[in-house]
Amino acid sequence: MTAPLLQMYRLKKHFSLQNSLLKAIDDVSLDIYEGETLGLVGESGCGKSTLGKMLLRLESPTEGHIHFDSLNLAKLSRDEKKLMCQKMQMIFQDPYSSLNPRMTIADILKEPFKIHSLHSKSQLEEEIKHLLSLVGIHSSFLGRYPHELSGGQRQRIGIARALALRPRFIVCDEPVSALDVSVQAQIVNLLKELQSKLKLTYLFIAHDLGIIKYISSRVAVMYLGKLVELAPTEELYKNPLHPYTEALFSSIPIPDPKQERQRKKIILAEETLPSTRSPKGCIFSGRCPYAENICHHIRPKWRETSPGHFVACHRSAPLDSPLKVLNDS
Ligand SMILES: Nc1ncnc2c1ncn2[C@@H]1O[C@H](COP(=O)(O)OP(=O)(O)OP(=O)(O)O)[C@@H](O)[C@H]1O
Ligand SMILES: [Mg+2]
Repeated sequence: MTAPLLQMYRLKKHFSLQNSLLKAIDDVSLDIYEGETLGLVGESGCGKSTLGKMLLRLESPTEGHIHFDSLNLAKLSRDEKKLMCQKMQMIFQDPYSSLNPRMTIADILKEPFKIHSLHSKSQLEEEIKHLLSLVGIHSSFLGRYPHELSGGQRQRIGIARALALRPRFIVCDEPVSALDVSVQAQIVNLLKELQSKLKLTYLFIAHDLGIIKYISSRVAVMYLGKLVELAPTEELYKNPLHPYTEALFSSIPIPDPKQERQRKKIILAEETLPSTRSPKGCIFSGRCPYAENICHHIRPKWRETSPGHFVACHRSAPLDSPLKVLNDS
């Protein structure tokens, strides 16, 4: 693997709510390597978008560090930050609400260049034509408005806009979930093509585990603001170790009807109230079908169980773990 392009170290993002503190991201350390697609999965509200936004400085971390290309983002000067913003972009879920309905496609695509005042008029027109050709949209669309485009075409424009300033890293936050199934594959394939053509690195957030499997080189699983498992894609799908990952994957339908009938589906119990969750134990212990005493009292460590496969679960701990000791005594 190549060097990490992005490094997160003990990242936290806490939101103060009326009567409580919401730990949207709670102690996440993770590297994203140059040229890879890191898939990020987890149920709604677990903190995926918040993590993506922090990487792009759309949210500032409560604690922790982010390094991009070995530079600490918190310590950059204003000019350096501006430069960094060009190198990191985001593609959003809903291309309709992320494109200004009153602007033509040409104006939407010119905007990033204006903010950074990079080009002369003729250079700008060339750049925009180039962007459109990259995403497979004909230049006759330049005078049209977003509502005149289909969902897939709008997302292509969203992608073109993200590519305008030649980024190296893109957070794709559910880029196809708002699209018709028939269009999803085209957009995912376009993102794959662009990745190899432009040497991009992606953090790819999605609920669809089939799409995540197709596009990701590694997958991280998040639960309540914490990473619970991380592994190369094939390894994770073959051998999920964390009970939450196992439950998540047990809901993927199998195309063979016979196998599908025999499939073991794991239905998780509703989460107990966060206030009743043990502050010391595993965050998943309240819903875990395998939880034992230790899980409610001791937070499992983040351990590597096979090369590149990390998990935070007492069941996957090495032989000298407290669980083993407790079970044997
Ligand atoms: N600005 C904010 N102020 C307060 N709470 C917030 C803010 N942004 C996010 N949250 C909360 O942080 C938690 C994580 O939200 P986030 O949007 O990151 O989840 P997500 O995993 O992207 O969910 P989804 O899959 O539904 O998009 C949620 O409980 C959300 O309500
Ligand atoms: Mg989200």
